Amino acid sequence: MPYQTIDVKPIAGALGAEIHGPDLSKPLDNQTFSEIHQAFLDHQVIFFRDQDLTPDQYMAFGSRFGAPTRYPFSTGMPGYPELFEIRKEPEEKRNFGGGWHSDGTYLETPPLGTMLYAKETPTHGGDTQWASGYAAYEALSEGMKKFLDGLIGINSAELKKSGGRENRGKMYQNMALSNLDEAGKIVAEHPLVRTHPGTGRKALYLNQAHTVCIKGWTEEESKPIIDWLCAHFVRPEFTCRFQWRPGSIALWDNRCTQHFAINDYQGQRRVMHRITMGPERPV
Ligand code: SIN
Repeated sequence: MPYQTIDVKPIAGALGAEIHGPDLSKPLDNQTFSEIHQAFLDHQVIFFRDQDLTPDQYMAFGSRFGAPTRYPFSTGMPGYPELFEIRKEPEEKRNFGGGWHSDGTYLETPPLGTMLYAKETPTHGGDTQWASGYAAYEALSEGMKKFLDGLIGINSAELKKSGGRENRGKMYQNMALSNLDEAGKIVAEHPLVRTHPGTGRKALYLNQAHTVCIKGWTEEESKPIIDWLCAHFVRPEFTCRFQWRPGSIALWDNRCTQHFAINDYQGQRRVMHRITMGPERPV
């Protein structure tokens, strides 16, 4: 679609585009917002540079995509329960989000979108990658697509593969995480292939962090197919990578992407503000 109020510059073949023009601190007119929304649907993850937003302005922009949702393992920032700070201090070794995943797949109604706003970034490193579930699905053989049709993934918040959420959570000393011992109880069933309500396109919908097995199969039986699909999902040609600067914002579509925060900036601080929005049941 031709854009009239914004400039859209794709950054990779499968997904990702930088949007130039809008000042997100100002209320956006309907035409500008509808073009940004279209760019979000067209490119799956969109990026803005040099934004200077108060928490209220940030929440106001995010809310136009759907009702803000709370991260189940944080009480949020003071006065802003849906605003969640991701912080890694110079002395910390582990980073948050350092594994391929889509946000909240263990919820009955995962958030359709996530927004991340860079407050403090390392001098270099600390990029984030995204992978397209559309590109990954569309590259499958007809035989594999037929095999996946109707299969349901069981998604857990437990993070079993990385030693359990409680243990992993304790490593992030500078983040206000809570409720970690409840993670094993948060489980949801979703199709391995979902149809995006805004585009009608099919996307792979599973991830190594949370998809523990296929419904009706044992974990042992499920593992080879989950491992293969997860490796296929993040093939380099289905990904893009974004280099942050303070003031950068990324807005991604959890319905058709996964993301991965790269942990290559030891000894430096990185602080991001995250909101998720638009709870929606995958179909
Ligand atoms: C996340 O997984 O939400 C964090 C991504 C990042 O910090 O780059």
